[in-house]
Amino acid sequence: MTRRVQRIVVLGGPGDGLSVAEAVHCAAAAGRPVILAGFLNDTLPRGELLQGVPILGPLEEWCELDDDIHFVPAIQKVKDMPRRVQRLEDLDIPEERWGIVIHPAAVVSSDVEIGPGSFVLSCATIQPAARIGRFAGVRAGAMLGHHCVIGDHTYVGPNATMCGRSVLKEAAHLGPGAVLMDSRVMGRYALAGISAAVTRDVPEYEIWFGNPARRVSWVKRLGQAEH
Ligand SMILES: CC(C)(COP(=O)(O)OP(=O)(O)OC[C@H]1O[C@@H](n2cnc3c(N)ncnc32)[C@H](O)[C@@H]1OP(=O)(O)O)[C@@H](O)C(=O)NCCC(=O)NCCS
Repeated sequence: MTRRVQRIVVLGGPGDGLSVAEAVHCAAAAGRPVILAGFLNDTLPRGELLQGVPILGPLEEWCELDDDIHFVPAIQKVKDMPRRVQRLEDLDIPEERWGIVIHPAAVVSSDVEIGPGSFVLSCATIQPAARIGRFAGVRAGAMLGHHCVIGDHTYVGPNATMCGRSVLKEAAHLGPGAVLMDSRVMGRYALAGISAAVTRDVPEYEIWFGNPARRVSWVKRLGQAEH
């Protein structure tokens, strides 16, 4: 029986897009039925090559591509996640057109649920009973403990650690090397900076860093002036 190969187009470019593209290449090399077909990017010229595949046009042109193409967003805006969420929602891409990318060197427990549009990069470890929402990104070396839950549009940075039963609500961001203590919850759009040791629940839209982490500022809401 022949397996149908899923063609993946990455939304983004230099930056996170390269890491996601590389994960697709590695998955293909490991024998998984995926292939990288290109990028959609608002600023790079159409036809320019990135990771050996072309820029196919700006994000809005997703609807010009063949129906069997699946998309994975790699657009990261630290401290500006409300705009990222809005940008992706405005594209109005149907649920079934979002793909999932898992680097073959990630260790993902067999019972883990991963939502469409999400990716898990190299050497990340996802322990049993964890759940990953839609459009989430788990970066290289990150660790999600058992029963962790990360919602839609969440970011788990490289080498960040989520202890068992901890939670990232929608669009929350756990920075590189940060640690979220067992059962703690980061609220919607909350951000923990690099190396933060988060020992308490973080209210929505707050930015924390330090050890122990404390609030330092706020994430700007859509349409809201700087604090
Ligand atoms: C928390 C964060 C958002 C703060 O950014 P910011 O508001 O622009 O803050 P600044 O860079 O202006 O730094 C302000 C001060 O806080 C310090 N600081 C910034 N982040 C810090 C952190 N995580 N821990 C300790 N101190 C920190 C800075 O050194 C600076 O100190 P100074 O005034 O004595 O020079 C940012 O530092 C961070 O950690 N971003 C996450 C990066 C990330 O996730 N990248 C993803 C790609 S891997």
